[in-house]
Amino acid sequence: MAGRLEDLIGIDYPIVQGPFGGGLSTVALAAAVSDAGGLGSFGAHILEPGEITALVADLAAATTKPFAVNLWVPQPGEDIRPSPEEFAAHVERIRPVLEELGLPEPDAAAPFGPSFPAQAEALLAAAPPVMSFVMGVPPGGVITEARRRGIVTIGTATTVDEAVAIEAAGIDAVVASGSDAGGHRGAFLRPVAESLVGTFALVPQVADAVSIPVIAAGGIADGRGVAAALTLGADGVQIGTGFLATAESGASAVHKATLHGPDAKVTVLTRLFSGRPARAIPNRLTRELAAHEADVPPYPVQSALMLPIRHAAGRGGQADFVNLWAGQAAPLTSARGARDYIDVLVKETEAALRR
Ligand SMILES: Cc1cc2nc3c(=O)[nH]c(=O)nc-3n(C[C@H](O)[C@H](O)[C@H](O)COP(=O)(O)O)c2cc1C
Repeated sequence: MAGRLEDLIGIDYPIVQGPFGGGLSTVALAAAVSDAGGLGSFGAHILEPGEITALVADLAAATTKPFAVNLWVPQPGEDIRPSPEEFAAHVERIRPVLEELGLPEPDAAAPFGPSFPAQAEALLAAAPPVMSFVMGVPPGGVITEARRRGIVTIGTATTVDEAVAIEAAGIDAVVASGSDAGGHRGAFLRPVAESLVGTFALVPQVADAVSIPVIAAGGIADGRGVAAALTLGADGVQIGTGFLATAESGASAVHKATLHGPDAKVTVLTRLFSGRPARAIPNRLTRELAAHEADVPPYPVQSALMLPIRHAAGRGGQADFVNLWAGQAAPLTSARGARDYIDVLVKETEAALRR
């Protein structure tokens, strides 16, 4: 018997592949997951509107099954640029890394990235089967228009209050994202430091507080985790790090290798790569700049400053300086194809629920 999430979206298994922003999503991964009966997702927050239109066409050509495209909702203050003096101080902090990698002086006027209203307009016009959001509740018009076009919407909550706000906004389903999860924390009602609830505690509280389907995220990487989430009251799961490790993901070889290495046993929340707290495997950069955690500028200023470092380190396969996003279950992941992973998850979940 299919559950509410499968019925809402039209999928076989209540397994969502978490979207990856920052260039780590691929059409091949999303299509493989959707073809295998889960919901494949693509993180589009750095894409320009025209690229979003092309992306939805590419995804629709790659799979006949439902898929999701994800956007970041802008938070207040993201359009504020630092003064020239502040900018110079921010550059000084990362100068040792710029010099070691032989990178030029950052440009204070570098563009911040695409505008959310233009991205949302392009995505609504392209009408993917599912739109998912993180970092907030999109303005009301977006949700109303999605419903008019038959697009299912999914919001992301890190606290019970955020889940209630997402349901009140008319969004169809909510990801309950525990602090175990890899990548950026999506807190939007209170600061991240006041919004860190582990998946095991968050999921049953969200399930009690809302009536829309709940998708548990954070620290789930095998069938035992899926079974636990369903037992806690979730209607499905969203897995990020587990899919990041698969052959089809856009993570670099060094990133994938590190997911199974000794350093992945304990991950850290760090603002150093983007200005917004995100969970990553510690490396030379997070250790050497640890004293500046509180001083680096907010997103997107720090993200723009670090972009050349992230790219150069990624290209060069240097685990020392690259953003090794990962959740707390990274050591449970393994390198295999996405379809195999879904098959294993389904079998393991059934076995765990029988026990
Ligand atoms: C590399 C990476 C990038 C991510 N980017 C996004 C994103 O752009 N939007 C989003 O909603 N979630 C994003 N997430 C969160 C995942 O979609 C998912 O909710 C999370 O990874 C689940 O926790 P887990 O990593 O423990 O499986 C990202 C996660 C990772 C690991």
